[in-house]
Amino acid sequence: MTLVSSTPMLQEARKSGYGIVAFNVHSFDMLYSVAEAAAEIDAPVIIQTTVGTVQNLGPDSIVKTANAASEKYDIPMALHLDHCTDLDVIIQCIRAGYTSVMIDASMHPFEENISLTNQVINITKYIDVNVEAELGKVGGVEDNIVVSNKDAEKAVPSECKEFIERTGVPTLAPAIGTAHGIYSGDPDIDFKRIEEIASLVDEPLVLHGGSAIPEEDVKQCITLGMAKMNVSTELKNAYSEAIKDHFSQTPDSLDPRKYLSKAKEVAKKLATEKMTLVGCAGKAQEIKTQAYPNQYKIDSLRV
Ligand code: 13P
Repeated sequence: MTLVSSTPMLQEARKSGYGIVAFNVHSFDMLYSVAEAAAEIDAPVIIQTTVGTVQNLGPDSIVKTANAASEKYDIPMALHLDHCTDLDVIIQCIRAGYTSVMIDASMHPFEENISLTNQVINITKYIDVNVEAELGKVGGVEDNIVVSNKDAEKAVPSECKEFIERTGVPTLAPAIGTAHGIYSGDPDIDFKRIEEIASLVDEPLVLHGGSAIPEEDVKQCITLGMAKMNVSTELKNAYSEAIKDHFSQTPDSLDPRKYLSKAKEVAKKLATEKMTLVGCAGKAQEIKTQAYPNQYKIDSLRV
C-alpha cells in the first residue's frame, strides 16, 4: 500500500476509541525501525518529520523512503510534516508527496491562526492530504520551536469548536497540559478539558508531547478522544542511547551495521510498546478495508 492521507485512519481511530502513534524520525534507519515495528504488530502508523529533518534529508528522499517502506510492509502509513510555520515548506512537502501537514500558527492570535490555517486548507482542498492545526500553546522544545512554561497555554474548548467550524481543519491539536520533551515530574493533564473539547467536536484530536506520559494517563486521553499521539523525544533518546552504549562497551567496534542494528532493535521495542499502549496493534487490516476501501480494492487487484 502506498502512503495514504492520515485523515481516514484517524477518523476511524476516533470513532472506534483507539489511538494511532505518530513517530518523529530523524534518519532513514529510524523510519525503517518504526515501519518494521508497525508491520510486526499489524498496526497503522504515522511517520513524521520536523522542518529540520526535511532540511537535513530532503523531502523527496524522505517521501521515496517512506513510500518504499509503506509498500514493503503493506500497512496503512501516512507521512506527516510536524510543526511547520512556513507555507513555502508546507507546499514543498506536499509537492514531494507528504500526505499530512501541520500548520503551527499557535504562536499567533486566534484570528491569524484561523487565517493561516485556511490558507493551507485552500491548498489541500482537492487533494488527499490531512491538515493539523494547534490551539493554545504546547510547552517545551520541538526542533526550533521553543515555548517556555510561562508561555504555555491550554486551548479554550469553545474556540476549538469555532476554529474547526471556520477552517474545516480535519485534525486539531489542542494544548491540554502536555509538553514536548521529558517531564521533570508527571504532566498536569487537564482531562476535563479534553472531555469538553471532545464533546464539542467530532474531529480526531492530537496529543502532542507523547513522550514519558504515564501509561494510565495516555489511555485516558485516548478514551476521551485523542486519536493521534506524537512521540519524538523518547524514540530519539532511546535510539541514541543504544549507540552510546555500544561505544562505551566496545569502543573499537566501528562497524555501523553493528551499532545501527542495536539502535534499531531498541527503537522497534519502544515503538511497539507505544502502539500497543494506544490500542492500534492488530488494526491495520481493518483500517485498510474501513478507511481506504478504494485503495484496498485496487491493491487487491494488483496482487
Ligand atoms: P515529545 O518529544 O514529548 O515526544 O513530543 C512529540 C511531539 O509532540 C511532536 O510534535
